[in-house]
Amino acid sequence: MNTAIPSSNNSFNSTFQDFIEYPKSGILSKVLLKDNNIQYTLFCLAAGTEIDEHTSTRNAVITVVEGAGNLNLEGKDIPLVPGVFIFMHANAPHALQAKENLAFVLTLSEHVSAKKKISQQTIDIVKSTAPILKKQGEKITTRMYEIMFQKHPEVKAQFDMSAQANGTQPAKLATAVYSYATHIDDNKALKAMVEKIAHRHVQTHVLPEQYPIVGECLLQAMKDVLGNLATEEVIKAWTEAYQLLAEIFINQEQQIYESVSN
Ligand code: HEM
Repeated sequence: MNTAIPSSNNSFNSTFQDFIEYPKSGILSKVLLKDNNIQYTLFCLAAGTEIDEHTSTRNAVITVVEGAGNLNLEGKDIPLVPGVFIFMHANAPHALQAKENLAFVLTLSEHVSAKKKISQQTIDIVKSTAPILKKQGEKITTRMYEIMFQKHPEVKAQFDMSAQANGTQPAKLATAVYSYATHIDDNKALKAMVEKIAHRHVQTHVLPEQYPIVGECLLQAMKDVLGNLATEEVIKAWTEAYQLLAEIFINQEQQIYESVSN
């Protein structure tokens, strides 16, 4: 069945069966509903499909609708049969196998970590670095790419190296870092920027596990360029702030990856 997916602007009711549709092989996923905090995705897996071990940045609930399979959650096997309800904490490793055609709903809730932890003091410190980032931003990001390509040459393949050589990409990153410093506590102001960058990241196959690499190189570049101005306090605040920004991107990119795999 191929029922149109409703929008979250109006109430509606339906049954999961209206949306279930199995591919000949592999996975068919449909975002049934999504708002700012939660996303319901129906996964239909053909018998025999396996999903290798991975993690999610958001807390998640699996609700099995029909079929049979197995979930390995943090090393423990859990049979997937209709009615089973499983809560998976963010970052819990899990792998999945469909023994028969299997349909389940994955509910992703708002991710919890850095956003809740970031303090007003951190926000104030990060904001106080905005003027220096405006002045020295491009020097910092040029240095950051220099460090990254030296330490992690494998990431070069994802970049357009002419945009590095003519300074376009370091300039774009500097603008993004500066905007983040000024709007760290205003997600609405960051939204358009985050969406645009996330789309570019998905086009260039950026993965969650690459964020710590960029973070480490960016912080090192701040230290190299800012010298004494990069106090312990400033570095600590930017470490937390970067983690939060990384989570925002990872989350946004996960949604795009999921929607393009539909
Ligand atoms: C919070 C951290 C990050 C920020 C603020 C950021 C920022 C940006 C910006 C502003 C762009 C340009 C987008 C456009 O052209 O419209 C971009 C592109 C890109 N970013 Fe990131 N990024 C981050 C993390 C990462 C990570 C972890 C990687 C993985 C290696 C990465 C790889 C790329 C690539 C490959 C491009 C395309 C560059 C090209 O066209 O040559 N970024 N990023």
